[in-house]
Amino acid sequence: MAHFDSVTQAPADPILSLTEAFKADSNPEKINLSVGVFVDDNGKTPTLKCVLEAEKRIQENPIPKGYLPMTGTPKYAALTQEICFGKDLQESLGKRIVTAQTPGGTGALRVAGDFIAKNIEPENIWLSNPTWANHGGIFKAASLAPQSYNYFDKETLGLDYEAFIKDLKEIPAGDVVVLHACCHNPTGADLSPEQWDEVAALATVQGWIPLLDFAYQGFGTDLETDAYGVRAFAASGVPFFVSQSFSKNLGLYHDRVGAIHVVTSNDEEAGRVASQVKISIRTNYSNPPAHGGRIVEEILSDDTLRSQWVNEVADMRSRIHKVRANFATAMAEAGINRDFSFLNEQNGMFSFTGFTKEQAIALREEHSIYIVDSGRINVAGITEANLPKIVQAIKSLLD
Ligand code: LMR
Repeated sequence: MAHFDSVTQAPADPILSLTEAFKADSNPEKINLSVGVFVDDNGKTPTLKCVLEAEKRIQENPIPKGYLPMTGTPKYAALTQEICFGKDLQESLGKRIVTAQTPGGTGALRVAGDFIAKNIEPENIWLSNPTWANHGGIFKAASLAPQSYNYFDKETLGLDYEAFIKDLKEIPAGDVVVLHACCHNPTGADLSPEQWDEVAALATVQGWIPLLDFAYQGFGTDLETDAYGVRAFAASGVPFFVSQSFSKNLGLYHDRVGAIHVVTSNDEEAGRVASQVKISIRTNYSNPPAHGGRIVEEILSDDTLRSQWVNEVADMRSRIHKVRANFATAMAEAGINRDFSFLNEQNGMFSFTGFTKEQAIALREEHSIYIVDSGRINVAGITEANLPKIVQAIKSLLD
């Protein structure tokens, strides 16, 4: 039987395949700086204390394992809206926000992609150049046509705001523009509050539809400041989408818990939008898995657990800031002939180093140091113990 003769070998995932290769590497000194997963100084991904306590409470109060509603629980929707939009905007937008619990941020993006393809039918969906390696695949799978807008200056390793705005001004009304709400993945180059205000105003004038990917809230400046962009759009009155993830800021990577929020123009429109979001969910995965959502509910609805969470996010964030500074200093002290001070300007877990694909491959093959071929590194993977090896490897690469 030759049913599968026509199946061709797919390319390896540019991010997740590196963790597979890392696991298979027998070098005891291997270092994984590829996938965006936070680790502590011991190189371990911590389970947050607030999560452990929430899970204890969930075990003590089991609920029947019937299906969740297609969009998850109303409690989850209310709590996640508040984290995303803040209390005031949540209240003023009221029923205009349509929210659904999704399997992670990826699930949220796919639900949005399907909804957009079937109900808005834009000519194109615009992604930043560069962007998260999975964005293009998700939107193509939803039958959308991804295009890119300029965002990053490879010379300065920072935002090219002028080129970015110029491109946004040329995107036609009705197209969708995907923006990284904070901690831009892969570059770490974010917009300032003034720039967010300008971009939000532009969306209203130009008539394109924003979709904000919000996967790293709390990893940049703090939970509130990182929401500036999302809230600037919400305050502007423009209809838009937000995909939210709790993988990173609650360390719930394998629980797959996130949300899609659609900010609509009025309550009647919200009803129609919600009905179509349900179709997208029902035809993809029917309804969301419950466990991660319950953890989020337990933590966000309890003052003690919630402030414990805020502190734990702050601890993760300070480690990232500390590692960035240590890394830049160690490079300078090693006499490496390149200025790495840009590391201190970038936000979140990722840094775009400017290393070429060949250099990324050399780090992997000669030193068992895994970074994404685009030159992206997860700085959170750097520890006091592995920093000297990383610096030496980079020195040998650049000398
Ligand atoms: C990343 O960019 O490394 C993370 O968002 C994990 C993933 O799924 O790619």
